[in-house]
Amino acid sequence: MTDDERRAAELLAAARNVVVFTGAGVSAESGVPTFRGAGGLWKQFRPEDLATPHAFARDPRLVWEWYDWRRGLVAKCKPNAAHHAIAAAQRASGQTDKRTVTLVTQNVDDLHERAGSQDIVKLHGSLFLDQCAQCAQGAQSAQVAHRCGNCGGWLRPGVVWFGEALPEGQIEAAVEAARECQVCFVIGTSGAVYSAAGIVHEAQAAGAKVIVVDPGDTAYDSIADIRLRGSAVTIVPGILRDG
Ligand code: OAD
Repeated sequence: MTDDERRAAELLAAARNVVVFTGAGVSAESGVPTFRGAGGLWKQFRPEDLATPHAFARDPRLVWEWYDWRRGLVAKCKPNAAHHAIAAAQRASGQTDKRTVTLVTQNVDDLHERAGSQDIVKLHGSLFLDQCAQCAQGAQSAQVAHRCGNCGGWLRPGVVWFGEALPEGQIEAAVEAARECQVCFVIGTSGAVYSAAGIVHEAQAAGAKVIVVDPGDTAYDSIADIRLRGSAVTIVPGILRDG
């Protein structure tokens, strides 16, 4: 363990409330592609063709083809040691009741759930939920035909698209946890997409230390109290172990 990793582990262990804030990078070593950077989805595909309400209205079949492909890809992936370490830290905090570990994720791959995390603040929805694009019917589990059981209209993927509001209550829950934490532990996110990205600034403004794990450059590099350059799987389990 490096000195910085040891310092990070100590800060995490001493904090009464921790927010773990994750992005696509936490799932990279599970085989899920990230969005930006080498091999990122937005290098291969144009978000305006696939991830906006307008794109869906224009060509729902094309949009579904892409989301079905992503569902298939993610379904074959397994949670990795970083997902498991976060879930274990949440379980441990629940048992001692001395602290809280709130997981806030931008990911739609459900790998945190599959690792056993509970009470996840999910800012961008889930690949594995559908919503009716026509009627008020709420979330439905993924349907093959993509048609609403209530009105027969098109279902849409239950993810947040560009230009859309975040799911009700989720950003509020994230901001509240951010304002109450002593450590904001940021893993595998470029910090490029607001409002989600803003929760790290909320935490820091309220006095929290910011720890960032990421092998590449992020928007938080100049504000991080501890910046750990490396992959989630190599760093996260080690520094959460003593939490
Ligand atoms: P990005 O693709 O923007 O950033 C992924 C981050 O993960 C980068 O900083 C990489 O350096 C880092 N990374 C890569 N491999 C890693 C590893 N093994 N361990 C740790 N980090 C690693 O993904 P997000 O920040 O999650 O929005 O993107 C934010 C949002 O933009 C997504 O939620 C999605 C996208 O458009 C919606 O779907 C609404």
